[in-house]
This record gives sequence, C-alpha cells and structure tokens, in this order.
Amino acid sequence: MAPDGSDGARTHLTTWDPAQYGRFARERARPFEDLMSRVDLPWAGSVLDLGCGPGTLTARLAERWPGARVVGVDSSEAMLAEARGRAVPGRLELRHGDVRSFEPDGPVDVVVTNATLHWVPGHLELLGRFASFLAPGGVLALQVPGSFAEPIHVLLRQLAGSARWRPLIDGRTGPWPASHDPADYLAELQAAGLEASAWETTYVQVLGGPDAVLEWAKGTALRPVLGALAPSEADAFLAEYASALRTAYPPQPGGAVLPYRRVFAVGRRPMTGAARPVVSALDHAQLAMPAGREDDGRSFYVGVLGLVEAPKPAELAARGGCWFRGVGTELHLGVDPDFRPAAKAHVGLRVVGLDALAERLAEAGRPVRRDDGLAPTRRLFTEDPFGNRIELLEPAG
Ligand SMILES: C[S@@+](CC[C@H](N)C(=O)[O-])C[C@H]1O[C@@H](n2cnc3c(N)ncnc32)[C@H](O)[C@@H]1O
Repeated sequence: MAPDGSDGARTHLTTWDPAQYGRFARERARPFEDLMSRVDLPWAGSVLDLGCGPGTLTARLAERWPGARVVGVDSSEAMLAEARGRAVPGRLELRHGDVRSFEPDGPVDVVVTNATLHWVPGHLELLGRFASFLAPGGVLALQVPGSFAEPIHVLLRQLAGSARWRPLIDGRTGPWPASHDPADYLAELQAAGLEASAWETTYVQVLGGPDAVLEWAKGTALRPVLGALAPSEADAFLAEYASALRTAYPPQPGGAVLPYRRVFAVGRRPMTGAARPVVSALDHAQLAMPAGREDDGRSFYVGVLGLVEAPKPAELAARGGCWFRGVGTELHLGVDPDFRPAAKAHVGLRVVGLDALAERLAEAGRPVRRDDGLAPTRRLFTEDPFGNRIELLEPAG
C-alpha cells in the first residue's frame, strides 16, 4: 500500500485491492465514525480527505456536509478507480495526488486523514502543512492504527525478515507502517496553532470467517509484501503467516478476536486572531409578517412544520412577531406594517420526511410544488399563511 508510483524510495509498486480492503468495512469504518463524532462543525463549505482510498468514507463526509465540496486525494489508481464510482459533479471529486505535496485550491473547513498517515514516513512533519490549509474555525481530524507492537504486525515483520524470505522481500518494499502516541500528535497540532485533543482506543474486534486475521492483514499490512513476491512465493508466505496467526489468534466460537489500537487527534484553527473577518455560519433568517397574525404563524410553523416556538427577549417582544427553532435552524417572523409577501426571496429548510411533510402541508391547505432541479436532493416549495415562499429540502440517503 505504498503511494503507487509516487515514491522514488520504493522499488516495487505495491497495489491496493479495494475489494479485499472492503471485506471488513464495518470494523474499518467504526474508528472513522468515532473520529468524526469529535468534529463539531455544523456547516462546512470545503472538505478534504487525504488518503481517501476507495471513497466509501469520503462519501460519508459529503452526506454529513451536504453544502460542501468534498475532495478526496489518493496516490493509488486502484483505490481511485473504486472511489470514482462515488463522484458527484460539483459535490464529491477524486484526485490523484500524494499527501506529502498536495495543495488545496483554497482554505478548507475540514481536513480528514483516516488510516493513511502510518504509510507516510515522517508524517508528523506534515501536520503543520495540513493545519495551514484550514480556514479559521476549520478542523483537522486524523486517525492512524497504533497496533504495530501487536502480534499481527510483529509476526509479519519477523517472517519477512527471516532467512527464507528476507532475500526476496528486502529492498522491494518501503518502510513498515508506523505511527506515534496520541501525545505526539497533540504536540504537533498545538505547535501548528490549533486547539487540539488526542486520544486512543483499542477496539476488541471479533472477525468472522476462516483465517479472518490473515484476511484482515491481506487488506492492509500485507499489501507491500504481496506486491514484492511472485504469486507462488506469495502463497507460500501466506501459508506460513497464516499458521503463525492461528496460534496468536486462535479461532473462537464467535470468530477470531483481534484487539486493534487506534490513535486519534483533532485540532481546530481558532477563530480569534484571524487575519480577516470571517462569516462562520447562518445564525437565523428573518421573514416579514403582517401585524396581529402571530397565531396564524404559530399554526403553520409549529402546527404544520413542527418547529418549536422560541421566546423572544422581553425588550423585543413588544414589537410583535414570533421566533421559531428547529434542529440547527432559527426563523424569526418580524412584523412589517407595510407587509408584502416574499415571493422570490425565501428560506430553504432542510427536513427529514419530506413526503410526510408534503401531506401535512396539503391537509393544511398550503400549496406544494415539487422540484427535481437539485436531484438527488428532493425538494418542494410552499408558502406560509402570509404568502412567504418557503423551500423544504431532503438530501438523498
Ligand atoms: C488504509 S487506506 C485508508 C483509506 C481511507 N481513508 C479509509 O479509511 O477507508 C490508506 C490509503 O492511503 C493511501 N496513501 C498512502 N500513502 C499515500 C500518500 N503518500 N499520498 C496519498 N495517498 C496515500 C493509499 O493509497 C490508501 O488508499
């Protein structure tokens, strides 16, 4: 799994096998999900996935930030061929590149690098450059395995270094993958000016199927060795390695138990001290309404759309109107004595359950005009009781 063709120090082009890598997709996705759960960023316009591999998890980034342009970068053509099947014009783009030299087109809100940097020798030194990609408020999130002292890796290195295999492998692969402790990543992110945290987790994985630990290694750690050996040699190597793994990880009723340590770090570029002012998110939108019709507003925004009424501050309450809140959304209805409905300007509200909402709107006598112009996002337009245009959107998936 060396960067294909891009590392002069490697004499053999190691290739990825996306299908083999995907065999334990659930176990491999879990640390990514745990990492991303620590990225507290409701909105992102630009997301970068360094070492995106088959793009499975890159696509999840695009789902999480539907307004973002997501760029996945990888040096393996085999992985990119798989990832390109997930490309969405204008939304999810895959690029061939080396994380050591890749430069984004502009400031990035989220830089993710998951299960990649252990393949990049000296990667601690890259973190300052990755941090420099971030817009103020942006987040760098990384995860690497920290399991290189575990039998799965120790046995592999021992076998590859044995009298039988060393002459066939030595000099034909790059350095073995390696990572650092959480404190090392923390220190690098802090030195780069980020507000950082770092931690580790050992996942006690139960892997099903015959020689499951070998199958796990075939997707990742074994790639360089398999790339260095001729097919018949590779079969003999695998047989020896499988036998050693069976002793270290004996099959158990539920499957082989493979404890796997992983190291995580997340850092945020502070908003303060930004070189220029930055608009960071939409706080609320205000629509106008005619005087004295707050109850009509409540029956639509609370009764039909399901928002919750938010109390107005006492000093503003006397002006009339009402405020409503949804998940991540706040709408203010302000009284305008010269009210005219907004027929073109509008708010776009993201919803879950667009079809059920369409039924409720129809029952309430509100117009429902479907529009496929943003497919695969589904959307419709309606009007509030005052004639203000409202857009409702439900992203695909
Ligand atoms: C274990 S995979 C992880 C893929 C993906 N991030 C995931 O979590 O599913 C590691 C990926 O890093 C890529 N990679 C390794 N070194 C790289 C480098 N120097 N530049 C770009 N990609 C690299 C490999 O080609 C491979 O696709």
